[in-house]
This record gives sequence, C-alpha cells and structure tokens, in this order.
Amino acid sequence: MAPAVEMVDATVVTTTGLPLVRYRNLTRAPGEPLNTATVRPLRPLLVEREEADGVRRLAPVNPVSRFRWISGLDRVEVPGDLVAQAFLDGQGYAAQVLQAFDANRDGRIDEQELRLDSAAKVDLVARRLRALGVSEPTIEGTLEVYPLSHGVPARERALRDCTACHAGSSRVAEDFLIAGYLPGGTPPRPREGSKVELAGLLAIQSDGSLMLHRDQDSAPTDLHVLGHSRQGFTNTLGFALFVAVALGVSAHGIMRVVLRKMRSGADTHATGGSKGKEYVFGSYERIWHWTMAFSGMVLIVTGIVIHKSGDRAIIDLPKAVSLHNVFAVVLMANAFLALFYHLTTKAIRNFIPEPKGFLGRVLSHMEYQTRGIFFGGPHPVNAPGHKLNPLQQVTYLGLLNFLFPLQIVTGVLIWTVGNWPSAATALGGLHYLAPIHNLGSWLFLSFFVLHVYLVTTGRTPTEHLESMLTGYQPLDAEEPTP
Ligand code: HEC
Repeated sequence: MAPAVEMVDATVVTTTGLPLVRYRNLTRAPGEPLNTATVRPLRPLLVEREEADGVRRLAPVNPVSRFRWISGLDRVEVPGDLVAQAFLDGQGYAAQVLQAFDANRDGRIDEQELRLDSAAKVDLVARRLRALGVSEPTIEGTLEVYPLSHGVPARERALRDCTACHAGSSRVAEDFLIAGYLPGGTPPRPREGSKVELAGLLAIQSDGSLMLHRDQDSAPTDLHVLGHSRQGFTNTLGFALFVAVALGVSAHGIMRVVLRKMRSGADTHATGGSKGKEYVFGSYERIWHWTMAFSGMVLIVTGIVIHKSGDRAIIDLPKAVSLHNVFAVVLMANAFLALFYHLTTKAIRNFIPEPKGFLGRVLSHMEYQTRGIFFGGPHPVNAPGHKLNPLQQVTYLGLLNFLFPLQIVTGVLIWTVGNWPSAATALGGLHYLAPIHNLGSWLFLSFFVLHVYLVTTGRTPTEHLESMLTGYQPLDAEEPTP
C-alpha cells in the first residue's frame, strides 16, 4: 500500500531540478504532490526465488529501471546538477528545451512530454551537456529487481483467489510492464550478479514500453503450479493409455451385445436358472471394497478439479484440496486395515497367484476374454480355493504393490511441499512429483474403467455387482466379482 517506483528517469529533470520518477500504483493530477495522490495496491511481479532455507518459492518483486547520462570513456554518471543546468535556466525550462519538448504548445512540459523519445530531443540535450563540458554524453539504463519483503502478510492473509495462480492463465506467467518508455530508446541492462532472475523475454512494444513476456504454457523455471503447469509427456502418455483402455472395453462390450443378440433364442446359457446361492463376500470385504471405491472416486474427481482448477470447476480449489487430503487418509487407513485383515485371515491367498499351472490358466482366461465370452463359451476355472482369476491377480498385484504405493508416496510428498518444503525440495519438488502423481492417476482411471466394465461380464450384467452388494452369488456362477 505504498508508492512503488517503476522507473527513475535521470536523463531529464522536472522543474524542481530532480529526475522524473514514475510510479506503478499512483493516480495523481499533474503537479499533485506524492502525499495527496491516490495509492492503489501494488500488483507485484511474481518470480521464483531461492530463499534462505534453500527452498525455491514464488516471491513478489518490483523491477525498477534507472536511466541516466554517462560521459567519456570511463562511463561515469553525469552529475545531476549538470543535467539540471542543461534543462533549466533561472525561470524554468530553457527556451530551447521548451521549444523541443512542449509538443502541444501550452507553454509547459507535462509528464508525457518530458521524455527523450526522439533523436532530436536526445541530440538537443546531448549538445547542451557538451556545452557544459561533458564529453561524449550517452544514455545508459540499468534494471534492478527488488524483492518485496516488507509489508508482505503471512500465509493466513495471503491471496484467497487460488485461481489467480492455479489456472490456465496464471499470474505466475503473466506479462509485466518493466518500463513505460525507454529514454533514447535504450533498454535497461539487468544488473550483473543480481539475486533475482527474470525468466522471460524483454521486448519493446509498439508504444515504446518495455514488457516482460513469459511463457503462458509453463510456469517460470522449475515451479509446478497445479492447474497451470502441464507436464506434456506424462500427461499425454497417461491420457493415451486411458483412451486405449476406454476404446478397448467399448469395442469388447459392443461385440458382446451384438453377438449375444445374434445368439439369443438359440442358446440359453446366459439365462440358465440358478441352483441356489453361495456366500462369497463377507460383510467386512464388502465394506472395505465400497469404502475403497468411494474414496477412490472422490480422489479422482477432486484430483481432476485440482488438475484443471480455474476452468469452471464444480467446487473451488480449497474445498477440492481438503477433500482430496481427507479421502487420501480414508483410503490409506482402509488399505492398511484391509491389508491387516487379509494377512490375519489368510484371505491374502486370493491375491497371490497359484504357481502351479499359472501360465495355462492365464492363457485360458485370455482366450475366454477374446473368444469364449462372445460365443457363450464356458468360463475357465480358477485355481482351487482362489476367488480371483489369474488375470485379476496380476492386475491387483500391480495395483497394490506398485500403483498404490506410488500414489501414496508422491501424494504425501506433494502435501509436504506446503508444510515442509525443504523435505520435498530435496526430491526435486513438485516439478517431478506432480507429473508422476498425475501419470499414476491416469493409470488408476484406466483401471477403474476396466474394472467397472469387467463387473458387467457375469452371466447377467448385474450379477457381479449384486454379489458385491449382498455378499451372495448364484451357486452356478462361474466366478465372483472381477
Ligand atoms: C500467488 C500465486 C498462488 C496463489 C494465489 C495460490 N497458490 Fe497454491 N501454489 C503456488 C505455488 C507457486 C506453489 C508451489 C509450486 C512448486 O512448489 O513448484 C503452490 C502450491 C500449491 C499446492 C501444492 C503444494 C502443497 O501445498 O500441497 C496446493 C495444494 C496449492 N498450492 C493450493 C492452493 C490453494 C487451495 C490456493 C487458494 C487458497 C492457492 N494454492 C493459492 C502459487 C499460488
């Protein structure tokens, strides 16, 4: 809430004999003093900065350009009073200066006019400086970036509008005005050894101003701002896999329906009467299954919201993040309890493939899924005492031993980025963690589609679903829920 300088133009002087100073956030009438001007809140430039604890964070900075006359071979700055003498005589601006600068001929040089924006003006002032004994006067500009560390509130009072950063068009990549005009057309040189780097391109606009352009498609340097940064490779790979699975099950499903229609009448296999019921899923198994399913779905939906935040989301980012965290804990607790249950009751055997005849069973199940299922062929049998078929066992082994741990570890680390940044920074920060977590989510989503589809492959489309709800399945059903 204080005036922030945009540029100090010491190539000209105001009537007070001092350099012209332009502010970023002031509205004032011509000649109005600073202390009565209206100050607007500063919208600082946000750049990535390494802080004292070694963590790279987004920090507000203010770039200030300074332009001045320098002289001679040793390029020393021309003293301010000499520049003032070049512009002023006893009464105000010298007649020659007024003549050259007062474009609207109102007898004054206002702020728009008081700038070296033409070769004629530059030549005039250079000539007057030489007359005052300055050798080879030339214009030089420097750019200094000041970190704003005073008056920056704690995170409790930080910007509430998450989508200012976490959205496709984000403040972390927005263009920023460096200098409103360039005296003598001289761009300022960034000071060497500066602690703040401006990642972007400095470009002179058609109106003569200098802009910092940043790449809208990526965050500056290494930051990964959820909802804004896209890691192209993992995202495309995950999406391609998902599409492949979705197309695969659609084709499989359509073929099943079409061929069943053609077969109907001739074959009664699919509608054969049931010979009674068998209890296959205990109440605990059903509870953990549906807890897992529900928390998984909440994680997928909130994950999509976080991934695409800012684009008309169904819930806002803070809610999505809280829900995602809460259900991640629910899922982890559920997974842990289920592991405990499966170990202590030896139900874990269902998940571990029976080595004897494993390959043969895999092949017969693959053959069934690609041939028999379409023609009403018999369902291959599982290894004795195994509820899951070998294809399911392999899938679940991958899911439980690889995908679950991967998502849990990367998820927990993403969460620590906000709480113990130095720990996550050691692992490369969100820049690496987020894309891996994202790829894992695509794998989950692909599994989910496949799983829901396979549920419908019982003798009737809802048979498997019913058994996971009631615990019972018909005695002559070939196998329980996939
Ligand atoms: C001024 C820009 C900005 C705003 C506003 C902002 N964020 Fe962030 N956010 C960031 C940056 C930068 C990171 C860290 C990127 C990195 O570490 O690579 C981040 C990281 C995160 C993360 C991942 C790390 C963690 O803490 O788990 C979450 C979640 C997050 N923000 C949520 C939010 C929510 C919710 C809001 C709104 C209340 C919000 N952000 C507002 C810039 C912003």
